[in-house]
Amino acid sequence: MSTPAAAAQRRPGDWRRTHTCGALRLSDAGATVTLNGWVHARRDHGGIYFVDLRDRYGLTQVVLDEKLASSVRFSAEYVLSVTGTVKARDAQNRNAERATGEIEVVAARVEVLSASPNPPFEVSDDIDTALETRLRYRWLDLRRPLLQKNLLHRSRFINAIRRSFERQGFAEIETPILTKATPEGARDYLVPARVHPGKFYALPQSPQIFKQLLMVAGMDRYFQVARCFRDEDLRADRQPEFTQLDMEMSFVEEEDVFACWERVLSETFAECMGLQIKTPFKRLHYDEAQQRYGSDKPDTRFGLELKALDAWARQCEFNVFKSVTAQAGGRVMGISVPADLAAQISRKDLDTELTDHAKSFGAKGLAWWRPAADGGAGPLAKFAAGEQGLALRAALGAKDGDLCLFAAGPQAQVLRVLGELRNLLGRKFGLAKASGIAWDFLWVTGFPMFLRNEENGRWESAHHPFTAPADWNFRADDDAALGKLESRAYDLVMNGWELGSGSIRIHREEVQQRVFGLLGIGPDEQREKFGFLLEALAHGAPPHGGFAVGLDRLTALTAGLDNIREITAFPKTASAADLMCQAPSRVADAQLAEVHVARAGKGLEEGA
Ligand code: AMO
Ligand code: AMP
Repeated sequence: MSTPAAAAQRRPGDWRRTHTCGALRLSDAGATVTLNGWVHARRDHGGIYFVDLRDRYGLTQVVLDEKLASSVRFSAEYVLSVTGTVKARDAQNRNAERATGEIEVVAARVEVLSASPNPPFEVSDDIDTALETRLRYRWLDLRRPLLQKNLLHRSRFINAIRRSFERQGFAEIETPILTKATPEGARDYLVPARVHPGKFYALPQSPQIFKQLLMVAGMDRYFQVARCFRDEDLRADRQPEFTQLDMEMSFVEEEDVFACWERVLSETFAECMGLQIKTPFKRLHYDEAQQRYGSDKPDTRFGLELKALDAWARQCEFNVFKSVTAQAGGRVMGISVPADLAAQISRKDLDTELTDHAKSFGAKGLAWWRPAADGGAGPLAKFAAGEQGLALRAALGAKDGDLCLFAAGPQAQVLRVLGELRNLLGRKFGLAKASGIAWDFLWVTGFPMFLRNEENGRWESAHHPFTAPADWNFRADDDAALGKLESRAYDLVMNGWELGSGSIRIHREEVQQRVFGLLGIGPDEQREKFGFLLEALAHGAPPHGGFAVGLDRLTALTAGLDNIREITAFPKTASAADLMCQAPSRVADAQLAEVHVARAGKGLEEGA
C-alpha cells in the first residue's frame, strides 16, 4: 500500500490511506501516514483525545490534541481519514496485545468520510447481543474482528482447496441453478417459469446429476464450489442454502477418491493451519461403526465403546433383558465408564441427566451397575453376583469401580441410545480433547444400499439413487438380500461430524432403471424425471465416482466454531428467514400473475 509508485501519485491533502490500521510498527516512527477506518473507541484524557481506528487489518491508536479534537465532530462507527506522524509510545504505554501497540499516530488532519448514528450495538467481540439483532444488522455484526477472521479463514480454506484440485488436474465447471429436481432427501425450492405457464424450475439440492453428465461428456475430473438449496428443518450444522466442494472423477474406484481428498485436505491443512495431518485416513465399515460406537459418524478420539451383552442377557435372571433377547431384532448392549470418570457421576446425574438423555432417544429406561466384589450397586446388582457378575464384567471389559450403563430393545434404538450416551459422556468429561488428537479423520464405508421405510414399507436409498450397489447383479425380488445389500457409498467423518458424502455411481442404464424401480419410481416417472440421465448412461458412460464436502462445516470446525452460521456471511435463521433483507417477502398479485401463480386462499395471504 505504501509503495513508491503509490506515494508518487499522492496529491497534497489526499484522503486515501497510505497504510492499513494493522500495518504500522516501531520502525515506521517519524513517518507521515494516512489511515482510513472506523472509529472503534474514544477516550478523553483531559485535553488529549485517543481514538482507536479500526479496519479489517487491525486497530491503531490515534492521538488528537484539543484544538484538532474540537474542530471535528465524530463518534463511534464514523469513517475517518487521519493524516499524522507515527510516534513511538513510551515504554509504559505500549500494548503488547496489539500488533500496532508500540506506536500511535499523532494526527495533524482528520476528515470525516462518513457519519453514523449511534449503532444498534457495539462492534466488539465481548458483547452478548441477541442473535436476532445481530442478524438484522449483519453488516454491523460483520465488522466484529471475530466474524471478519471467520470469513477470511473460510476464504483462505476455499482458495487452498481450489488450488489443490487444480494441481490434481480437475476442471472447475459451473452447473445450473435453475434446473430440475435432484433428489438428496430434502424438499425442493421451486421457481415458477414465466414463459412456461404452470411449470417450475427446482433449485439444485446438489449438482449430482450434472456432475455425472460431465463424466459422460468426458470431462474426466470436475470440481465446483457449489451452492445447494434444501428446504429442510434447520440445525446448528444446516442452512437452507449452503456450499459444497463438489467433485467427480472418471475411471476410478473408492481408493482413488479417498487418495484425492486425503491429498486435498493435507495440503489445505498444511497451508492454512500449518498442520501435518496423518494420511491415509482411518477406514471403518459402517456395521463396525454402528456396533462399536452406535453411530455412523463416531468421534473415535475416545473409547467408551459399546459391548454386545446378548449372550449374557439370554441366560440372566433380569427379565427386562431376558425378554428382549427373545424378540426378533432385540439387543442388549452396554458401555463401561472407567472408574476415574465413574467416580464423578453421582446418583442424581444417573437418574436425571443420563436417564433423561437415554429416554430422549427412545430408551425405556437406563439400567446401571457399579461392579464390586459384593455384587456392586444398581438395578443390575442382584442379577450380577458371583459367576454371573464375572461373566458380565468380562463381556463389558469392566472393573470394580466402573459404571456400566445398559440399553435393551430393538437394535437401531439400542445403538442410538448408547451412541448418544457415549457422546454425552465424551462432552461431559472432555474426552476428545483429552486425547490430544486435534483432527480425527475417518472414512466410513459399506453403507447399506437400501433402508426400509417403517411407515410405508417402501425401500429408500440410504445415500441417493445414483449410488452403485456393491453387487451389480443384485436381485430386486429378494427382500432379505436387499436389506443386506451394501452400497459403494462412503462418508468422511471428522471429530464426530459428517463432513462429506459420496459414492461410486451407477454408470449402467439397466442398473439405474432397476434401482429406480425398487424405489417405486416406475418407467413413466423415470422417463419424465430422469429420462435425460438414463439416455446419457446408455450412450457410453465411464465408470465414475465422486464426493462432496460441506464447506460451511469444514471451515466452521477448523475455525473452532460449533455453528456454521458464524462462518456464513449472510445466514438464515432457524425458520429459514433472512432478518436483514426480510426474505422471504410478499409479492404483489401482479407479479404472481406474471409467473402464472394464484394464491391458494385468503387465509394464506393474511397469515403470511
Ligand atoms: P450430501 O447430501 O451428503 O451428499 O451432502 C454432502 C455434504 O454437504 C453438507 N450439507 C450441508 N451443509 C449445510 N447445510 C445443509 N443443509 C447441508 N446438507 C448437506 C454436509 C454433507 O456431508 N450429491 C451428494 C454428494 C455425492 O454423492 O457426491 C450430496 O449432496 O457436510
Ligand atoms: P423396571 O423393571 O422396569 O423397574 O426396570 C429396572 C431397571 O431397568 C430400571 O433402572 C430401568 O431404568 C431399567 N430398564 C428398563 N427397561 C430398560 C431397557 N429397555 N433398557 C435398559 N434399561 C431398562
